[in-house]
Amino acid sequence: MQSFFSPAKLNLFLRVLGKRVDGYHELASLFQAVDLGDHLEFCFSLADRFTCSDQTLLNPDNLVLKALTLFRRKTGFIKPVHIHLKKKIPMQSGLGGGSSNAATTLFALNSLHGFPFAEKQLSTWSQELGSDVPFFFSHGTAYCTGRGEQVRDLPKPPAFECLIVKPNDGLSTPKVFAALDLRELEPRDPEKSLQQFYQNNLICFNDLEKPALAVLPSLMAFKNTLIDQGYSHVQMTGSGSAFFCLGRGKKVEITNHFRQKVNSLNRSENKWYCN
Ligand code: C5P
Repeated sequence: MQSFFSPAKLNLFLRVLGKRVDGYHELASLFQAVDLGDHLEFCFSLADRFTCSDQTLLNPDNLVLKALTLFRRKTGFIKPVHIHLKKKIPMQSGLGGGSSNAATTLFALNSLHGFPFAEKQLSTWSQELGSDVPFFFSHGTAYCTGRGEQVRDLPKPPAFECLIVKPNDGLSTPKVFAALDLRELEPRDPEKSLQQFYQNNLICFNDLEKPALAVLPSLMAFKNTLIDQGYSHVQMTGSGSAFFCLGRGKKVEITNHFRQKVNSLNRSENKWYCN
C-alpha cells in the first residue's frame, strides 16, 4: 500500500485576460499549494476497486478514475489497482480538490510501477484532465497562464499561514465563468503583480469574485462577515466559494461552514507533497 497526500491550492491572485475561441478563458494566476488535503492510498489488487470516505464521489466522473483511465491509455499498464480516497477538501470550493486528486493519482500510479515516466511527461498528460491539474506537478508555487495549464514554477515564497473558510453553498466553475462580464474587469498587469508579490508586497485579487457573487448573492454577506473580523486580506480562491483570510482576525462566528487554518506547502523534485 502506498499513501499520498493530495493538497488543496489557493489562487493568491487570478486575472482573466479574455475569452478564447475554444470557449476557455485566458488566465494569469499565482497558485500556491497548502497543507489542507485529501489522502489517497494505492495498491495492486486482483480486480479494480475504488473506495472513498464520501460515497457520493463513487462515480465515473471522479477525476481519480479519469486519471487512472488516462494513465492506462498513455502507458498500456493495465494491472488492477485498489484506490482509496479519504476526502477532506470541500467540493465546489475553488480549492482544486478534484484536480489535485487527478495529479496525485498520476504520480502515485507512476510510483507504483517503479517511476518509468518523468514528472514532465505526467504533467503534459495531465492537461487532458483539467486546466488546474498540471499546477500540482510544480513544486507548490507557480504562475499559471493559458487556460491555467501553462505552469511556470516559482521559488518558494516565505511560508505563510491563513484561514480557509467556505460557506455550505458551493459554486460550479462553468457557471461562474459564464457569469463573467469581461468589460467589468480592471486592466491589471499580472506580470507586475507577480513582481510585486516577490518584492514582499502581498497582492491579492480575483477576477472571478464578481461573477461568483452574481451566481451566489449570499456570498457578499459571508465575505463581509469575514472582513469584519479584522483580517488584512479576505479573498475568494479560484471560482469559489471558499475564501482565504490573511493577517490576524477575531474568531469567525459563522455557523454551517467549513473552516481550517492552513500553511503554504511546497515539495522537492520527484517527491510528492507531504503534510
Ligand atoms: O479545465 P476544466 O475542465 O477544469 O474547466 C471546467 C470549466 O471551467 C470549463 O468547461 C470552462 O467552462 C471553465 N473554464 C474556463 N476557462 C479556464 C478554465 C476553465 O472558461 N481557463
